[in-house]
Amino acid sequence: MAVIAQKNPNIKVTVVDVNAKRIAAWNSEDLSQLPVFEPGLDDVIAEARNKNLFFSTDIDAAIDAADMIFTAVNTPTKSYGSGKGMAADLKHIELCARQIARVAKTDKIVVEKSTLPVRTAEALKSILDQTGNGVKFQILSNPEFLAEGTAVKDLQEPDRVLIGGETHTEEGREAIQALVDVYASWVPKDRIITTNVWSSELSKLTANAFLAQRISSINAMSELCEVTGADVHEVAHAIGQDSRIGPKFLKASVGFGGSCFQKDILNLVYIAKSYGLHEVADYWEQVIIMNNHQKTRFANNIVHTLYNTVSGKKITFLGWAFKKDTNDTRESAAIYVADALLEEQAEIVVYDPKVTAEQIYMDLDKQNSRSPEENRRLVTIVNDPYEACKSAHAIAILTEWDEFKLYDYSRIYKDMIKPAFIFDGRDILDMATLKAIGFETYCIGKGKEA
Ligand SMILES: NC(=O)c1ccc[n+]([C@@H]2O[C@H](COP(=O)([O-])OP(=O)(O)OC[C@H]3O[C@@H](n4cnc5c(N)ncnc54)[C@H](O)[C@@H]3O)[C@@H](O)[C@H]2O)c1
Repeated sequence: MAVIAQKNPNIKVTVVDVNAKRIAAWNSEDLSQLPVFEPGLDDVIAEARNKNLFFSTDIDAAIDAADMIFTAVNTPTKSYGSGKGMAADLKHIELCARQIARVAKTDKIVVEKSTLPVRTAEALKSILDQTGNGVKFQILSNPEFLAEGTAVKDLQEPDRVLIGGETHTEEGREAIQALVDVYASWVPKDRIITTNVWSSELSKLTANAFLAQRISSINAMSELCEVTGADVHEVAHAIGQDSRIGPKFLKASVGFGGSCFQKDILNLVYIAKSYGLHEVADYWEQVIIMNNHQKTRFANNIVHTLYNTVSGKKITFLGWAFKKDTNDTRESAAIYVADALLEEQAEIVVYDPKVTAEQIYMDLDKQNSRSPEENRRLVTIVNDPYEACKSAHAIAILTEWDEFKLYDYSRIYKDMIKPAFIFDGRDILDMATLKAIGFETYCIGKGKEA
């Protein structure tokens, strides 16, 4: 919404949220206090805020004043009842629809920005139409394809914008055009795709499934590389030269995280099952199974390499965020690797340039594997990477932050317990240099002989 405001100075954008703390942080004078860290976002906020971009907790007033309402609430995996652990939880989106229906006094276009199961617009329309005050609603699907870490650039120069609506009615086509006009102020027309609502809703789930599948595919190969002496980096480069495959998104890693891939595939699997398409469901579920395996085998490898015991050993995590250039930790591989090592009574020290200690403890506590006191006893969070590695038996790279490539590893090595191990779960460090320093090395997709 910040980028929409920046690119459309004549449109007033009001962002509302039930979370008053978040809204206060979005209004913070100190731009380093914004709730989301994204490169370049502070500049966009500085440019548009309090000109045509406002942050408020007065949701009713914003609904009342709006011609177009984007619903971008969270749609996590259901943690209760039918579809638990698989289906998307639509309670927040339904609450939004009911609030819009209650408050609206003039016709509105309601835009689904959240990622939703295919055919959600039908349910929204029925709630809006039946509980509304005789107001006419048009529902559009406009899924978001930005990637965290590059969100501002992805929004300013999108590969495409997708808008789904009622293409068969005049009102539907007008609503689609109104949203096309918002994006057309900066997005070339040929990158704005319009479809029917169901295609748009399903395209978002499909895009995430394909992206996650690519990661699981290269990760499956990474394990095979490690046992055969092939190098996953070389394999990825070789296959990526094939224009049908392409070079992007072929980086082996300790596994994908983030709030979207897993939840969206689980949702896809659930939808396929609910239509009785079991082969389709099983096919996509394998992407998640592979991802979980990758995290588990990384943790197991650490234990196995450290002479089958990590009890009382200090292991340093460089990185906690699920990827670089974000402070988002949702579903981060680091959480699962830490959990597995803590089960083996390891002591973990974490350094991440952007993630707070409060967030790291919250992530661990949410696992419910041990008491909060125990998590605080076994896990220490420090602000200095050299301090973090002092007296450690091993370092594990969990996030591909660029700064990790620049450290003085000779200095780090000197202060570690010998033999000193380094486990690169992101394939970002030069193993030959580390070996020459004296480290025992392991790199995902290359193994110990890297
Ligand atoms: N994070 C991403 O990179 C990304 C990318 C594409 C799509 N999406 C989709 O966008 C949606 C939101 O994702 P997110 O990562 O921003 O989630 P989030 O949990 O960070 O933010 C959702 C916000 O909605 C607020 N909210 C919940 N119910 C509300 C209500 N009834 N009224 C007003 N505010 C309410 C919450 O307080 C929260 O601040 C999800 O459906 C997600 O799948 C996210």
